[in-house]
Amino acid sequence: MSQSSDIERLRALSGIKWRYFGDDVIPAWVADMDFPTAPAITDALRTMVDASDFGYNGVSFDDSIPKAWAEWSERCFGWRPDVERTKVFSTSLQAIATALMVGTSAGDGVLLFTPVYPPFFGMIEKSGRTLVEYRLDQAEWRIDEDLLRSAIEPGTRAVILCNPHNPTGRVFDLDELRAVATVAEERDLLVISDEIWQDFVYPGARHIPFASLGAEAMSRCVTVTAASKSFSLGGLSCAVAHLGDARVAEGVAALPPHLLGGVNALGARATLAAWTHGEPWLTETLGVLRTNRDHLMARLASELPEVGIAMPQATYLAWLDFRETEIAANPAARLLKHGRVGLSSGPDFGAAGEGFARLNFATHPDVLDQIIDRIGLVCHPPV
Ligand SMILES: Cc1ncc(COP(=O)(O)O)c(C=O)c1O
Repeated sequence: MSQSSDIERLRALSGIKWRYFGDDVIPAWVADMDFPTAPAITDALRTMVDASDFGYNGVSFDDSIPKAWAEWSERCFGWRPDVERTKVFSTSLQAIATALMVGTSAGDGVLLFTPVYPPFFGMIEKSGRTLVEYRLDQAEWRIDEDLLRSAIEPGTRAVILCNPHNPTGRVFDLDELRAVATVAEERDLLVISDEIWQDFVYPGARHIPFASLGAEAMSRCVTVTAASKSFSLGGLSCAVAHLGDARVAEGVAALPPHLLGGVNALGARATLAAWTHGEPWLTETLGVLRTNRDHLMARLASELPEVGIAMPQATYLAWLDFRETEIAANPAARLLKHGRVGLSSGPDFGAAGEGFARLNFATHPDVLDQIIDRIGLVCHPPV
């Protein structure tokens, strides 16, 4: 498929990534990849479509998805989630919001490691919880145990951990995760661990599920993940949560039946296909993403050294620091206006994102080059 026809294909999709901005803008914002998903998934979906198999779906009611996740997680990360404690949700955000609602009360403090994935802020604010911020250091984005301890306020009741971390691409290591576990135990905190980026870890780092740290960590943790990020299935809505924290498990079980709705049959089937047959495709895709990451880093270092970036250890996101550039004030808006390239705006990830913008590099190499060219032209306009 030629590059131009693929851009035509992308622009014709109903997904938001290529539709949100005008046709002259190259989008590099929302976390969707530009590659068609795994053939094992399209085959499974095609079989359902051809058979008009849209009735209430058995996969949503049996334990096949929890079992498939348990096997995937054990194989890839050495942690086997308990199928009995796993609940299938519509989306990861639904699972996180649910854990927050049943696991904390109005007025409770909820700690975020900022900058961080924007929807967490609204969830905390709209549910009457209080934001407690731990600002990651802007060089290495590491978690420090003492700083974490001092960030916790008397009313803090929960932590939302995003690991691997969106937007910085950090993979928190064993020491950092143990620090979170230690402080959580000291202060009796619920840990909601969003591990949706678990599969995008590049050589040199390793994803450690928070719940794998031990029985104590697991018993205060809700682990949330999905196949949707890894396999480009964001629109199909299917996620899982391991409710290790008994109070959250009981709270979820006590919710009015049907409040959370069922799981989409296509999403459930796609998730099952991903976790049972998707690994070869994912391995190949990770290779493409790694090449893109290295190419982006090399071009930035040689052509735009004033743009700061720490090498992402995971994800397909680059958290770009424009504070030393000509476009330090509101870089994403200026790149859109003057370069017709659509990055995510840094301050959406919290006040710690001022002067930053997030670039999604899960695209074709030529498109990535165009994105970098356009950023370069805005930072260094021709005289
Ligand atoms: C950290 C993080 N959590 C959750 C989501 C959304 O997941 P879902 O579509 O399953 O709600 C995203 C999407 O980009 C994400 O980056």
